[in-house]
Amino acid sequence: MKIGLLTSGGDCQALNAAMRGVVKGLSETVDKLEVYGFEEGYKGLIYGNYRLLTSVDFSGILTKGGTILGSSRQPFKMMRIPDANGLDKVEAMKSNYHKLNLDCLVILGGNGTQKTANLLREEGLNIIHLPKTIDNDIYGTDMTFGFYSAVNIACEAIDCIHTTAASHNRVFIVEVMGHKVGWLTLYAGIASGADIILLPEIPYDNDKIIDAIQKRKKQGKGFTILAVAEGAISKEDAALSKKELKKKRENEPHPSVSYRIAEMITQRTGSEARVTVPGHTHRGGSPCPYDRVLCTRLGSAAAKAIVDGKFGNMVAIINGETKLVPLEKVAGKLKMVDPGCKLIKEAKRTGISFGD
Ligand code: F6P
Repeated sequence: MKIGLLTSGGDCQALNAAMRGVVKGLSETVDKLEVYGFEEGYKGLIYGNYRLLTSVDFSGILTKGGTILGSSRQPFKMMRIPDANGLDKVEAMKSNYHKLNLDCLVILGGNGTQKTANLLREEGLNIIHLPKTIDNDIYGTDMTFGFYSAVNIACEAIDCIHTTAASHNRVFIVEVMGHKVGWLTLYAGIASGADIILLPEIPYDNDKIIDAIQKRKKQGKGFTILAVAEGAISKEDAALSKKELKKKRENEPHPSVSYRIAEMITQRTGSEARVTVPGHTHRGGSPCPYDRVLCTRLGSAAAKAIVDGKFGNMVAIINGETKLVPLEKVAGKLKMVDPGCKLIKEAKRTGISFGD
């Protein structure tokens, strides 16, 4: 059997753990296995950059962060557009797959990656997709790998801020990754006792943020912690069209939403407001134990799907069970936080403000 592996899009913890799961799962069942690793995601598949991997490559990588194959962003919307030299990328990917005579291509990645995986499925390739992203926004799976590892990192950052914020009676904003969805901010915020959590799915009202800070002051709590998603948006801005918002941003000095909020807080309360942006540390370091187990399971289930010839699927985890979900049913959909969900209601009941 010959399989290809590629990791595409923003990296995260446990990509290696997932590939190890696939290869170990196949090695136990298949007599002769050849594994080709495409370098830097779809780029490697397009331009024929790959290497033959052996079992040694998959030893000792369960705990290793990043990806042994490298990754890159190759936007889905550009896939049908020829490259600078006129190369048809889709045809090139198909041709490299067929040249190697692959039985299956295992693709690890997030939403954009999944759309291209589905495109390759439509083009007749045997595809298995594994759901990767710290954002946990892939539709059709309860969990993506990388998410809990990133929650741990974001949580640790907020924990550290907590002690210094308390010493100085300051307002602190920790900006958490997540442009379109707020799962990471929601979990890290709750887990680290943030007082205000702002998500892209719940546009915030500046007055409500100020109310929450003043309420804490009245209770004798001089500091406030805000966990703010990169993609958090004010009610005012959410009402604008994309074009209007773009124009407004062009004239703003702030590098991100957190700095806008910090300035607003300082102006309206007189309190010092500081911003911390952990940024790409969210995706770094080794995977947490949960992700190691998850990836071993997803990888093993992927190996079974390949042996059974059940291609065209994402290997998901649903209600604690690994399941195959057809790519055509999930590609292009996002799993967003429902503002009315129980988790939000429960968090609100404990006094957390969502700025709404
Ligand atoms: O999709 C994962 C993610 O880390 C997002 O949370 C974040 O908004 C984005 O990638 C950052 O992308 P880049 O690494 O290209 O700056």
